[in-house]
Amino acid sequence: MRLTWIELRDFRNHVHTRLDDIPEGLIAVVGPNGEGKTNLLEAMHHLYALASPRTSSSAALVREGAAEAYVRGEFATRDGRVLVEVEVRRAGANRVQVDRSPLRRRRSGERSTWTRFAPARRTSTSTSTRPSRVANSPRT
Ligand SMILES: Nc1ncnc2c1ncn2[C@@H]1O[C@H](COP(=O)(O)OP(=O)(O)O)[C@@H](O)[C@H]1O
Ligand SMILES: [Mg+2]
Repeated sequence: MRLTWIELRDFRNHVHTRLDDIPEGLIAVVGPNGEGKTNLLEAMHHLYALASPRTSSSAALVREGAAEAYVRGEFATRDGRVLVEVEVRRAGANRVQVDRSPLRRRRSGERSTWTRFAPARRTSTSTSTRPSRVANSPRT
């Protein structure tokens, strides 16, 4: 499995960062202290683990002054490409979509697992309760 592109919005100190066409192999991320290199790695980790490796507080991940953070990207897998979109809210659970299908989180004690379900097809008259900036961003 390989991350092929990633986009961050309001994640840590990243207002908007996008890496297109991430090459295969070893990659160096270079920049001055405090530029956001570790935060970028954290976002990458977040996209596949659906959790931060260094904090359990969602609020810490949201850029100061912003309401929510978004991380989205695509993995190339043996079975094809998979689009993962994560909306990190200051409070409450993240919202995660895989190939545009929402994931549901189940908690059991310390552990949480995510399951995918096929949403019923929306009719043209139904309204979505979750208009997502992720879904509206320019890549779509
Ligand atoms: N939620 C946040 N909102 C705004 N800035 C943040 C947030 N979390 C961390 N930062 C800032 O991110 C910067 C550190 O980024 P980091 O990825 O650790 O840099 P480096 O490139 O040195 O690895 C610090 O300036 C810190 O204040
Ligand atoms: Mg660092």
